[in-house]
Amino acid sequence: MQAESLTHLQPMLQWRYAVRRFSDEIVSDTKLNQVLKDTRLSPSSYGLQPYKLLVIKNREIKDKLVEASYGQEKITLNSHLLVLAADMSPITEMVEQYVLRYSLHNDLIGKKLNAMKQTMLSSVAKFDKPTQYQWASEQAYIALSTLLLSAASLKVDACPVGGIDKDKFDQILELDKFRLKTVIACPIGYRHPLDHVAHANKVRKPIEDLVIKVD
Ligand SMILES: Cc1cc2nc3c(=O)[nH]c(=O)nc-3n(C[C@H](O)[C@H](O)[C@H](O)COP(=O)(O)O)c2cc1C
Repeated sequence: MQAESLTHLQPMLQWRYAVRRFSDEIVSDTKLNQVLKDTRLSPSSYGLQPYKLLVIKNREIKDKLVEASYGQEKITLNSHLLVLAADMSPITEMVEQYVLRYSLHNDLIGKKLNAMKQTMLSSVAKFDKPTQYQWASEQAYIALSTLLLSAASLKVDACPVGGIDKDKFDQILELDKFRLKTVIACPIGYRHPLDHVAHANKVRKPIEDLVIKVD
């Protein structure tokens, strides 16, 4: 018998798994929108959210993306294909927009607001493009984690898919035009009754191998 959990997360984390085969069932707009709204609340470095989330329904485009995914059929056979992409626009622009948004939602004006802006600029604005991609990807992965949990809480299935040709994804989705670069794909939908991994047991390191306690 499993020990009782103090959080509501354990049952969801046990229920979810990386689905390899989705059924034809479509995720409702209500559920999809909830997942997107939850993902929006993910924490990120300075709150800059340097990524976008593409929601792809178009079957022709999804079919093309399978060819850029080493033949992983789940990239096209799903309800919606979500793709997290790093925002490669100038970080100074992101900071400007953030500071503006911040001032609309919080009472911070004048010198203090400017000081906050300068702190942000002095640390992230100097990134070169590869560092920006790395940094933005780290933030996108945090969003992915929220997305997976939100989906699980709604009994919506998902599979993070990192085994893709990101450059080909960028080309097919014409992401350059939007100053974006692919980070990871995540189809969502509902598990197929014949999904071969549906009943596999979870394989994780024992907690003692994972955690180092420094008392
Ligand atoms: C960043 C990342 C990339 C992954 N890429 C793939 C992939 O390309 N194809 C796939 O079938 N599963 C992929 N997975 C799913 C993992 O194999 C799966 O999460 C892991 O084996 C643990 O199993 P579980 O999620 O079913 O508990 C990926 C997972 C993560 C987090």
